[in-house]
Amino acid sequence: MTPTKKTFYGRRRGRPLRELKGQLFASLLPRLTLKCGANDKDLQVGSFFKTPAPEYWLEIGFGGGEHLAAHVRANPQVHFVGSEVFINGVASLLQHLQEEDYDRVRLYPDDVRDFLPRLRAGQFSRIFVMFPDPWPKARHHKRRLLKPPFLAELARLLVPGGVLHIASDHAGYVEEILENIPQVPALSLQGTSDTWTRPFFDGAFPTRYEGKAKAAGRGCSYFELLKK
Ligand SMILES: C[S@@+](CC[C@H](N)C(=O)[O-])C[C@H]1O[C@@H](n2cnc3c(N)ncnc32)[C@H](O)[C@@H]1O
Repeated sequence: MTPTKKTFYGRRRGRPLRELKGQLFASLLPRLTLKCGANDKDLQVGSFFKTPAPEYWLEIGFGGGEHLAAHVRANPQVHFVGSEVFINGVASLLQHLQEEDYDRVRLYPDDVRDFLPRLRAGQFSRIFVMFPDPWPKARHHKRRLLKPPFLAELARLLVPGGVLHIASDHAGYVEEILENIPQVPALSLQGTSDTWTRPFFDGAFPTRYEGKAKAAGRGCSYFELLKK
């Protein structure tokens, strides 16, 4: 039986891609897109790459890809998996990558919720969910990604001692995240309400959305959750 795909409510495409982005989308994306069939299960992240790496990091909803590309540059020992539904964002990431990065990055350019259950447990050292869509209207809150079952799925995929990084500038979503975390016993929230007001991960990079939030005067919250 073919598993049912989740309903996705966000934007999948924006303005038509300009020439260079369009070319990269057509030529580079197929090379970087990881192989994952609808019936695959127990997939090993290492199998997506030509060579193994000591650590694998995952970024979910990488937007324009600036944050993912910065980590690729700064962490040459790590191999990265990125997922983004918005094709203009995927094309933007491709522009930020350089030839020498190509063997260390694999992409799932679609809804990450259809991909994660196909992976074997305990594989990522870090997972980033930076500024997930807040869905501010009350009737849309159920669309928010960081519900307890999804947090539990991320916990399943982390190696013991691995870290889930979450950031948000939306007070209501932050409140919900703080309510949901205790429902996932495998994750332990680090820091205190003082440290949550700034990135407390030494190797942190800003995201595009974070820049916009700060320019608009919105405070941001940063959470690190340790896999027990
Ligand atoms: C508010 S944007 C933040 C982008 C980026 N992380 C940043 O901070 O600049 C949220 C992103 O998550 C992506 N997204 C939402 N749900 C997703 C899903 N289920 N799978 C993959 N990407 C998703 C959206 O397309 C959007 O680009």
